[in-house]
Amino acid sequence: MNMADLKTIDAKNRPLRDLRISVTDKCNFRCNYCMPAEIFGPDFQFLPHDRLLTFEEITRLVKIFVQLGVEKLRITGGEPMIRKDLAELINMLSQVDGIKDIAMTTNASLLPNQAKALKDAGLHRVSVSLDSLDDERFARINGRGYRVQTVLDGINAALEAGLKVKVNMVVQKEMNVEDILPMARYFRDRKIILRFIEFMDVGNTNGWKLENVVPSKEIIRLINEEMPIEPVDPNYFGEVATRYRYRDTDAEIGFISSVTQAFCSSCTRSRLSAEGHLYTCLFASSGHDIQTPLRNGASDEELIQLLENIWSKRDDHYSEIRLKDTPGIKRHKVEMSHIGG
Ligand code: GTP
Ligand code: 5AD
Ligand code: SF4
Ligand code: SF4
Repeated sequence: MNMADLKTIDAKNRPLRDLRISVTDKCNFRCNYCMPAEIFGPDFQFLPHDRLLTFEEITRLVKIFVQLGVEKLRITGGEPMIRKDLAELINMLSQVDGIKDIAMTTNASLLPNQAKALKDAGLHRVSVSLDSLDDERFARINGRGYRVQTVLDGINAALEAGLKVKVNMVVQKEMNVEDILPMARYFRDRKIILRFIEFMDVGNTNGWKLENVVPSKEIIRLINEEMPIEPVDPNYFGEVATRYRYRDTDAEIGFISSVTQAFCSSCTRSRLSAEGHLYTCLFASSGHDIQTPLRNGASDEELIQLLENIWSKRDDHYSEIRLKDTPGIKRHKVEMSHIGG
């Protein structure tokens, strides 16, 4: 069999296209929707270093994933730049045949020191998390007192290094609704794509309530009243964000509406945790252990079989059933900081 011809399709007919690789479960921020400080405190047990996949192990797996259809990589965390020598990993991954795009999700705080090296190593673009332009509110959300300027400095460093930048803002009703318009104005003026993300019930710790979700429709209406916008076609099949452009400039914004308009039917994403467990959904209870076979000497063919098997059985569609989930039954879900966004 010619492995390059393998087309891996899951139980709902969705191909495997994206691999999101978490390189650490640690972060210097404690965002209230992701790693609340009360839970991720000084006693929290993060993964020990020897449990993390090495760069060689990640690269070997990526070569195998390419044979199953993966074309896009996203490096995530925790905060990925906390992982030592990250540029070296990017360099190794950028040499893998078949990879068309390498992106990274980051809080940007370490970009001033690392953007240039990451770009030189082959990183194409970054998605930066920023939820407010107000220092007080931003500090309350990031849980560690980080200032807005720290993130803006990181964004500027990325742009100067030649990386493409998108900004992600998680909107929570009690936290940052008043930041929607200032954020839209600021990034529209700078022609940086801002995406508003509906607050999601990832993990078990962020105290999610449906009433704290601000539906994208409301945000669109709010922005449109001041700065008229119109829809734009997706860039690619299964794009997570719904795209819009401002009518009087070519600046773009996007909306990620996993709660009010689920996009599971076109979900081509798989997620590899830092210790090498494969998750077929952001809301999965557990992952498939790939590290053990990898470290026990499995051949490429055996690993391909294993991954094929996992993907072909996949029928996840959590965002479509979230609101119909049996009331009173709490399902255990993996934490966002463990598998990245
Ligand atoms: P590009 O379109 O390639 O730029 O990236 P993206 O929008 O897929 O990536 P990004 O990591 O920036 O996604 C933004 C946010 O969307 C993530 O942080 C998540 O909050 C959310 N998201 C991404 N993928 C999924 C998914 O598969 N399911 C759900 N429910 N949310 C997702
Ligand atoms: N809801 C929505 N988005 C989230 N993220 C993390 N936790 C949540 C959540 N509960 C996203 C943020 C951040 C990225 C790492 O994951 O966009 O930028
Ligand atoms: Fe860290 Fe990103 Fe989670 Fe915030 S959202 S705690 S920056 S991993
Ligand atoms: Fe994909 Fe799961 Fe998100 Fe649906 S909820 S889009 S299946 S990751």
